[in-house]
Amino acid sequence: MSRVLVLLAHPALHRSRANAALADAVRSLPGVTFHDLYAAYPHHHVDVAREQGLLRSHDVVVWQHPFYWYSAPSLLKEWQDVVLEHGFAYGDGGTALRGKRVLSALSTGGPAAAYQPGGYNRHTIGHLLAPFDQTAHLCGMTYLEPFVVHGVGQLSEAGLREVAGRYRDRIEALRDDGAGRNGGMAAGGMA
Ligand SMILES: Cc1cc2nc3c(=O)[nH]c(=O)nc-3n(C[C@H](O)[C@H](O)[C@H](O)COP(=O)(O)O)c2cc1C
Repeated sequence: MSRVLVLLAHPALHRSRANAALADAVRSLPGVTFHDLYAAYPHHHVDVAREQGLLRSHDVVVWQHPFYWYSAPSLLKEWQDVVLEHGFAYGDGGTALRGKRVLSALSTGGPAAAYQPGGYNRHTIGHLLAPFDQTAHLCGMTYLEPFVVHGVGQLSEAGLREVAGRYRDRIEALRDDGAGRNGGMAAGGMA
């Protein structure tokens, strides 16, 4: 079994539909550590030693967040900036994360069709997530196929439940050392 660390970054979880449902689907799973960054660090003072300790003791890291301005809410960026230090995550002696796996799990307001070359966001989600992919790569980690929930505003309650179920399956597969590739891109509840 792999140990999975889910890092949730949502600044207003009480108003969330998608991330709240995804969080509820995985927060109590055995072998999964669920860590709400905005709850832990309301003033954005990230405890670097604590976070590095958590990273050391897990095999799979999940960056779960709503897509904000084609990226993550700012606390996840702060977390990356201060936790993924030289000498820990990269550079001389920076080998702590080598061989671990990273999953981006995110929700978007825009529908899947918007994230295409002809769509109004012009780029694919994979293209827009390149900084996350490359961050993982520089740290010697494997960047997995992202889990994306598109078009949250158009998602029915049944669609939301279906997506949350597929997220739980994906996290369990990663924990159980499956390929972890089931349940990838979701578009308004449809694959
Ligand atoms: C500050 C902000 C920026 C956003 N930027 C994007 C964006 O770049 N692309 C997009 O598709 N949706 C964007 N959205 C919509 C959110 O991604 C969407 O509301 C969220 O994924 C819904 O998840 P939740 O129910 O967990 O809050 C943005 C929303 C906010 C508040």
